[in-house]
Amino acid sequence: MKAFIIIKPDAVKRNITGKILSRFEERGIRIKAMRMIKMCKEEAEKLYSIHKGKPFYDSLINYITSDKVVVCVLEADTDKLIEIVRKMNGKTNPAEAEPGTIRGDFGIAMEANVIHASDSIESVNREMPIFFTKEELE
Ligand SMILES: Nc1ncnc2c1ncn2[C@@H]1O[C@H](COP(=O)(O)OP(=O)(O)O)[C@@H](O)[C@H]1O
Ligand SMILES: [Mg+2]
Repeated sequence: MKAFIIIKPDAVKRNITGKILSRFEERGIRIKAMRMIKMCKEEAEKLYSIHKGKPFYDSLINYITSDKVVVCVLEADTDKLIEIVRKMNGKTNPAEAEPGTIRGDFGIAMEANVIHASDSIESVNREMPIFFTKEELE
């Protein structure tokens, strides 16, 4: 099974990309495809289309396009991968995320919360192709 994550600008800027990816690798999760990009507005709007109209939407789009991010496809031999990755990330608000989770250990702000992960198979299938071609995932 595959999961899709994004190391957000705050984490890339603080040089903790490797540290974060190590956690997944140490868990037994493989990096299937990865790229560092500066996301354009169109990609950001596609990624966060479900949040359109919410009070934080404009700010979120500005934030995710403000600096470089690392888009990454993870893979492991379990049908629970998406759940496992979301659990490892911790709650959306780092103030509520448990210590030991990525957001709980590396985050402090609601918007700059270190990492994104697709929340379902449907989300992976919608979000992953915004950034990766089929060939890159073979
Ligand atoms: N109330 C909020 N204020 C500011 N930013 C928010 C708020 N809620 C969510 N966000 C930002 O939008 C992203 C997407 O929200 P959501 O899908 O609910 O969380 P998650 O990233 O945990 O799946 C969050 O990771 C966070 O960066
Ligand atoms: Mg989400």
